[in-house]
Formats: sequence, C-alpha cells, structure tokens
Amino acid sequence: MVIKTATFVKSSGKWQECPEPDMPEYAFIGRSNVGKSSLINAMMNHKDLAKTSGTPGKTQLINHFLVNENWYLTDLPGYGYAKVSKVLRKDFEKLITNYILNRRNLVNLFVLVDSRHSPQKIDLEFIQWCGESGVPFSIVFTKVDKLKPSIAIKNVEAYKNELLKTWADLPEIYVTSAEKKEGCDEILNFIQTTNEFLENNSVNFNE
Ligand code: GTP
Ligand code: MG
Repeated sequence: MVIKTATFVKSSGKWQECPEPDMPEYAFIGRSNVGKSSLINAMMNHKDLAKTSGTPGKTQLINHFLVNENWYLTDLPGYGYAKVSKVLRKDFEKLITNYILNRRNLVNLFVLVDSRHSPQKIDLEFIQWCGESGVPFSIVFTKVDKLKPSIAIKNVEAYKNELLKTWADLPEIYVTSAEKKEGCDEILNFIQTTNEFLENNSVNFNE
C-alpha cells in the first residue's frame, strides 16, 4: 500500500470520545515500551506522527490517525506498566478493554510483543483474553534488529509453541523492526487486502 496521507485526528480518554466509527480501523496494542508508536511511524514513513519515548508509559490516551483518508490506525496506551499506581493501571486497563469491546469499526488488533524475550505471562494473558472475547488479532514481534536473525527465529518459534499449547490455530504473525522498517509492508498489505474485502462486500459500520 502506498501511504499518500497520514494525519493525526485526535487523542481520546474514553472510547465514546473516539472519532465516528465510519471507516475500518486497525489498532496497535502491547506492553508499554514494546514499540507501538515507533512501528506506526515506520509504517507511515513519518518520523514523529506518533509520539515515542525511551521511558515506558508515553502513550496514555487512544490516538487516532487517518490514513489515505479511508482507514484509521490507532495507537493505544501500553498495558502492564508497573510504575504507575494500581488505580491508574486499572483505569488504563478499563480504557483499553472498553475500547476493544465497543469499537465497532475495529477490524483487527495487532498485539505487539518484544522479540527479545521469552513468552511473558502478561502478553499470554492478554492474547488469551482476545481469543475468549472473540477479538480478531495478529501478533507482531518487534525490535528484531536487536537480535541475530537465528535468535529471532528461535524466539518466534518458541512463542508459536507456547501458543499452540492453548490454541489449535496460530494467528497471523509478523516479524518487524521499526528501526529497519522490516515487516511494515507485510502489515500494510494485510490492511489493504482487508480494506478491499470490506469495500467489495459493502460493509457499513454504521448499521
Ligand atoms: P508506550 O507508548 O510507552 O506504551 O511505548 P510504545 O510501545 O509506543 O514504544 P515506543 O514506540 O515509544 O518505543 C519505545 C522505545 O523502543 C524507544 O526508545 C524506541 O526508540 C525503541 N524502539 C521501538 N521500536 C524499535 C525497533 O524496531 N528497534 C529498536 N532498536 N528500537 C526500537
Ligand atoms: Mg507509544
């Protein structure tokens, strides 16, 4: 997909405040600092469309970007950020889960996991919740530039094996680096194909 335009629309503190759900939407979720905002910028070919930071907890609101004037890309706050109070963490969790369960134009959730680590409980729990809630999702491994290719392959395989303990089928998997722009085209191709399918089938989110 060629990105002709990518613009920031708004930041929302509640799912009810998000833009009209009149176009297909794709959202990025994952632990704080996993690289959600960086990957959005890499895909959009834009240095700082989504705000990034070395300090976890940078994205605290739901950020909507309008792409090619016909679909939304959404940057969500990270989950599992230990340094905020328990109450605030619960608030973030509620914001995220309410958004996911109520946003009727949400077509696919990209769950980002750090390719450097073995499967983490918090990510596996979140993936489990997506499955149980019937939320369509894909898994995106981030920061592969930080690993030797052979280690990256090993880690991805270990993750797949962990998922296969619970799931009969694996979701779509993408291996990415925002730094090297790896895997961005694959994600964009998936979005393009899905958008074309929705258009050909005259899917209207307002109905
Ligand atoms: P929150 O908004 O806090 O939830 O974080 P986030 O998931 O949006 O992460 P962000 O994109 O802000 O990136 C966190 C840190 O990881 C930054 O210092 C980025 O430069 C770095 N980073 C992100 N993606 C990559 C990558 O592909 N390769 C490398 N080497 N560093 C990356
Ligand atoms: Mg962010």
